[in-house]
Amino acid sequence: MTTSWITRPETATDLAQIREVNLAAFPTPHEADLVEALRADQQAWIPGLSWVTEAPDGSITGFALLTRCHVNGSPALTLGPCAVRPERQRRGAGSAAIHAALDAAREYGENLVLVLGHADYYPRFGFTPASGHSIRPPFDVEDKYMMALVFDPTLPVPSGTIRYPAAFGV
Ligand SMILES: CC(C)(COP(=O)(O)OP(=O)(O)OC[C@H]1O[C@@H](n2cnc3c(N)ncnc32)[C@H](O)[C@@H]1OP(=O)(O)O)[C@@H](O)C(=O)NCCC(=O)NCCS
Repeated sequence: MTTSWITRPETATDLAQIREVNLAAFPTPHEADLVEALRADQQAWIPGLSWVTEAPDGSITGFALLTRCHVNGSPALTLGPCAVRPERQRRGAGSAAIHAALDAAREYGENLVLVLGHADYYPRFGFTPASGHSIRPPFDVEDKYMMALVFDPTLPVPSGTIRYPAAFGV
């Protein structure tokens, strides 16, 4: 079943529902807490790059977040957490929020987005293994899970190790 989703950047009145969505989507409060720690970190948080998917009844169903990270000292973005209320998963709400967040990042002039996640989900947005750009995470993970999206391949892409915002604790 597909639904016609509305996407928009988060506003101050969305914060409790965003927490609810993350609490519902993940087994522990880790991701809900992570979102809040990132929001409190002015070096990581970029206003306008936290997107929600609204259901027709106005409730928040999906969430996608891009925050500042660095690759070998050059600025990049990291995608995640991405979350959808379990009872509304697999109806396009996650994709809608992710596409909207990525479109906003492109409009902001960003060129590199990294994601650690499901290897059969993120390629649909254009992500490919980050190892193809000689980009690696600061921890051990199977190659296919660490992915990168480059908006304009004619621009130089940094290579090296990703430095995550402190809230990620890696
Ligand atoms: C991952 C998630 C954000 C995707 O959002 P969604 O609205 O359910 O997904 P969409 O409807 O946009 O896309 C559906 C596709 O996602 C795929 N998908 C959903 N969850 C998946 C998962 N855990 N692993 C792999 N693929 C998944 C489905 O297979 C489906 O693929 P299809 O279109 O080929 O059938 C959502 O399922 C979720 O919150 N999951 C739990 C939390 C999580 O794992 N978050 C991502 C890690 S940060």
